[in-house]
Amino acid sequence: MKSTARAPSNIAFIKFMGKTDENLRLPSNTSISMCLSDAITTTTVEFSPQYKNDQIDIRGDVFNNQENERIVSHLDRIRKRAKVKLFAKVATQNSFPKGSGIASSASGFAALTLAGTKACGLAIPEKELTILSRLASGSSCRSIPDGFVQWEKSTTSDDSYAYSLYPPEYWDIRDIVAVVEDKPKAVPTTSAHSLVATSRFFKARMENIDNTISLLKHALDRKDFPSFGETVENEALNMHAVLMTATPPLLYWNESTMSVIRAVWSWRLKGLRVYFTIDAGPNVHVLCEGKTEKTVVSYLKDISAIQNFSINKPAIGARVIENHLF
Ligand code: PMV
Repeated sequence: MKSTARAPSNIAFIKFMGKTDENLRLPSNTSISMCLSDAITTTTVEFSPQYKNDQIDIRGDVFNNQENERIVSHLDRIRKRAKVKLFAKVATQNSFPKGSGIASSASGFAALTLAGTKACGLAIPEKELTILSRLASGSSCRSIPDGFVQWEKSTTSDDSYAYSLYPPEYWDIRDIVAVVEDKPKAVPTTSAHSLVATSRFFKARMENIDNTISLLKHALDRKDFPSFGETVENEALNMHAVLMTATPPLLYWNESTMSVIRAVWSWRLKGLRVYFTIDAGPNVHVLCEGKTEKTVVSYLKDISAIQNFSINKPAIGARVIENHLF
């Protein structure tokens, strides 16, 4: 009863922000993302009578009680589904360092869901796997299907699932994560989800989101990079405008975030097709086409505010692998 899975993190082009059901993690809006090639979590899960409690080994990191409890709660969901009563040992390792600007909860819970269900002997279809993963961490459901992924909003749990729109090789684009702050963020994403509705701009965001989704999907369909980039950048600014006008206000950016934003805009004025998106943190995801990667990287190297960066291509989703961590 042992299995190992690897899963990528993902970057949202249309952001999941706000929930209609806290417990079921039902999102206020449909979101769209891309799986990231250089941000992978590998997780081994073993259920066995030899374990007298759940043991969690986060390689290269220390988790607080709350984070450990979230993993145990998810093991409970998996045990319930498989009608298994055994405790588990979990080992998990990220390919990306802590503070690399990429949240590990999406890749971490996607890998745990796949490895945990396989270790229990369950063979769950992808759709159900994304629903199960969503219950542990919303955005993790987008780390299960391949490439470019859509996660549906719904009023019922069974209809809020993620699926692939296009495989990773569909479009050769890059997400270069410019890390300007390597400490954990002061305000967790969970707080952002519960605060957004206090902003008067949230209603306007919700009224326009279907239009933004159509614009993005149209740009994806045509592989129209400038219109894709403009839509994604505007969508990120929209989400942050809502967060900034919440009560209390949430401002995830710092001075270095602004310097990268301004740099991206100045390169664009010079004709370079480069855009950005930003999640609930200060680090900037710089988006460009494969053919301009080298130029963008050489420009980013000149910005002193950037501590390091990682270059991500579109990637496959979660997979079972043979090599166990223990
Ligand atoms: O899945 P959560 O609760 O960590 O929320 C993710 C929120 C954003 O990263 C800001 C947007 C997104 O869709 O990934």
